[in-house]
Amino acid sequence: MSEPERADDDLRQAARRSAAALTLAGLAAAAFAVAFIVIVGLGPGLTFALLAALLVLAALGYRVLFGSPRRAGGITVGRTAMAGALATLVVFGAIQAIPYGRDHTNPPVVSEPAWDSPRTRELAAAACFLCHSNDTQWPGYTNIAPISWALTDHILTARDTFNFSDWEDYPTSARLIEAAIRDGRMPPWNFRLLHPEARLTVAEKEELIAGMRATLGG
Ligand code: HEC
Repeated sequence: MSEPERADDDLRQAARRSAAALTLAGLAAAAFAVAFIVIVGLGPGLTFALLAALLVLAALGYRVLFGSPRRAGGITVGRTAMAGALATLVVFGAIQAIPYGRDHTNPPVVSEPAWDSPRTRELAAAACFLCHSNDTQWPGYTNIAPISWALTDHILTARDTFNFSDWEDYPTSARLIEAAIRDGRMPPWNFRLLHPEARLTVAEKEELIAGMRATLGG
């Protein structure tokens, strides 16, 4: 192979290597976005802000750790993964210092509906209380940002919509509850995914709907 040919070949190999590494980084970023928006329920704005911080930091980290990719014969998969992992640690470490979402003291239970039976309350507790009551459970992972941010925001919005623990001030109707359950909107599907106890069977759904009608009328 002549000198220019060899240089050409090197260049092509470097380009192929770089393309593989950048594809990997793109796939990781897509997986990150889907996981946070769909499963955790983080807003798209926050998710993309975190993602942008991660990518900028990973690119900078790559430069600092490994020097110019052009001189080193392209971007390699291994180095990209390393820079990505390091940037992830830094970004996720840093956001743990943000206070929002860390206060997990539940407000007191003020007033509940006049339940028609303990069974109705039991079903509502399993499927709805995490968000629509002050009886919120905060397992360990809810301390980790950005899961803590998404959950806190979600729960505050849900309590504002109606609150089984502050019923006199935040009530709703049996009709709205029935519609939300029948449409499969409530409990939200990503919550059902992570909380098997909230997956009501068809019979349990009917029981809860009938119980809410008996409790609230209508
Ligand atoms: C993981 C948290 C979560 C759980 C669990 C949950 N909800 Fe909700 N719910 C919300 C949030 C957040 C809102 C307000 C925003 C919205 O409408 O999506 C809401 C709104 C509602 C609304 C009013 C708006 C609408 O969509 O009709 C009803 C009714 C409702 N929920 C019923 C229920 C019932 C019944 C259950 C239990 C079977 C339940 N929810 C469980 C988070 C939750």
